[in-house]
Amino acid sequence: MRMSPKPIQSFRDDFTYSNSPGAIARFPFPFPEDEYMYSVNIEPHVTPGPEGSVYEHLLDIDEHYLSEMHERDLVLKENPKRCLAMPHMDLACWDMIDRVMTCFAADYPEHFSLEREGDHWTWENKLLNIKDSFTFGDSSTLPMPPMEYIGRQVQGDFALLDQRDGDLFLDAGIVTCPADWSLAFDAGMSFKEWHGPVPLAHGMGVFDRALKYLCAISQGRPVRRLNWTLTINARMDTSPETYPQWGTDRASVTPDNVGEKVHLRVELQVLDRMSRSNALMFSIRTYLISMNDLVTNPEWAKRMHRVMKSLPPELIEYKGLTRYHPMLVEWLSRFDPAN
Ligand code: HEM
Repeated sequence: MRMSPKPIQSFRDDFTYSNSPGAIARFPFPFPEDEYMYSVNIEPHVTPGPEGSVYEHLLDIDEHYLSEMHERDLVLKENPKRCLAMPHMDLACWDMIDRVMTCFAADYPEHFSLEREGDHWTWENKLLNIKDSFTFGDSSTLPMPPMEYIGRQVQGDFALLDQRDGDLFLDAGIVTCPADWSLAFDAGMSFKEWHGPVPLAHGMGVFDRALKYLCAISQGRPVRRLNWTLTINARMDTSPETYPQWGTDRASVTPDNVGEKVHLRVELQVLDRMSRSNALMFSIRTYLISMNDLVTNPEWAKRMHRVMKSLPPELIEYKGLTRYHPMLVEWLSRFDPAN
């Protein structure tokens, strides 16, 4: 981590979340062109990636680490069902422990360490003051179930997909900051079932091709893609379960507060084959940036305007932007010299 974690900031109520200039500079801006449409935008996640970038390591941690871990704790206290693992996913959960701990200890040795003597493992997380010894594979030796244990120490949501009959099934996950979808609702569904609500992409064959690609991912060859939406306020937890708390935020956008209220929400999604269970680990690392911060980069500002202006109506509706989209386009237009 090039930036040290900041003291805890909030993703709710008073929304004290902010990005430092360094965090803005490394923000994964997701638009390579002036127009956006769904595609099979999957590429190899070759690590180490560019130094200091969000692609440097398998799993990126940054200045928001403590804030996100605090927010995860709040969400899990409110609703423990945001973390669930079907019994046949136990081995996959231990695979996740192995992969995360091994990578963190190698990639961020100043914060994490792992000692292994056979099945006897000792893990230290200096950021959260955790030091535990446990027997690998024996859940009774951890203070909580394995997926929750590791999920509370790593930024981003996680799903573990069981692969069988040429399909993927959402059989485990820890999901506390979703972009309007519910783990409890999608649990047990297949790849095309949980993608059911997405418009246009099914007809374009996106999910047929993506599924074939994913089923063929081999161990040690992770892949990644970016996904994006917009969120009002720096709210991490936009789940259907908490809709009453954030649904009305969309009506709070005015021409005067677009820059501060509207946030681009980018998900860096990494898919990684697990060694023992053959499950796929799917990590969804969410980055939030306010429009005010985004337009400090003139190229991003111009492109954001063009992408928003030309966004297909189906996507505007699906992503929940209908109410404030015209206001946003108008606000962004001042940053586009062609306007
Ligand atoms: C949306 C999960 C992989 C493309 C979604 C949604 C979920 C999801 C839960 C929200 C659907 C809803 O509205 O209820 C996953 C999981 C994956 C995965 C667990 C791991 C296997 C992929 C891949 C692609 C993809 C590889 C590649 C094309 C999309 C698209 C959307 C979507 C285009 C709509 C996003 C938007 O417009 O905001 N995904 N997905 N997904 N997914 Fe995936």
